[in-house]
Amino acid sequence: MRNIVLIGFMGTGKSTVGKRLAQSLAWDFVDTDYVIGEVTNLSVTEIFRRHGETRFRSEERIVVGRLSQQDRLVIATGGGTVVDPRNFEVLARNGFIIGLHASLEAILSRIGHKNDRPLLKGTKEAIEKLWFERQACYAQADFTVDTSRKNIDEVVNEILGELGRMTEHEFTRVSKN
Ligand code: S3P
Repeated sequence: MRNIVLIGFMGTGKSTVGKRLAQSLAWDFVDTDYVIGEVTNLSVTEIFRRHGETRFRSEERIVVGRLSQQDRLVIATGGGTVVDPRNFEVLARNGFIIGLHASLEAILSRIGHKNDRPLLKGTKEAIEKLWFERQACYAQADFTVDTSRKNIDEVVNEILGELGRMTEHEFTRVSKN
């Protein structure tokens, strides 16, 4: 296992934490949404608007497949990436999966004012339903951090602590060629 993969609902801090974690490990950071934007030349919002979610998910699957073949990446996934079990399997085959959890309240207060997530445009009830439905997918992570009441440094330190506690053998799986 050679990558570190962050999974979790929108607004749990995957990208922010991922960037900082990659810096600490001196690994490269990639964000699947960003890569999808690069290959399609469209923002996530534009892909959803012009082509629909199905097209977005198919681009996402291709990007996940490509990134999973690389090494020493900290990969921030989109909130829906591991809802597709094929994506989870591919990512887990070559990566240590870290789940970022946050309470619905924390998520709503973090993302409430932003408007760049097509799936958060619905009612509070719809977001709540999605959050509940997806918890089982995120629970498959190898290790989970609750970010609800933590700042970025605290979350990153908790992850680094967990990586440090891994046995020599396990750590070799995520950090060496
Ligand atoms: C999605 C989450 C978004 C993005 C897209 C769909 C989801 O990523 O991939 O809007 O299905 O939860 P973030 O989790 O980075 O916001």
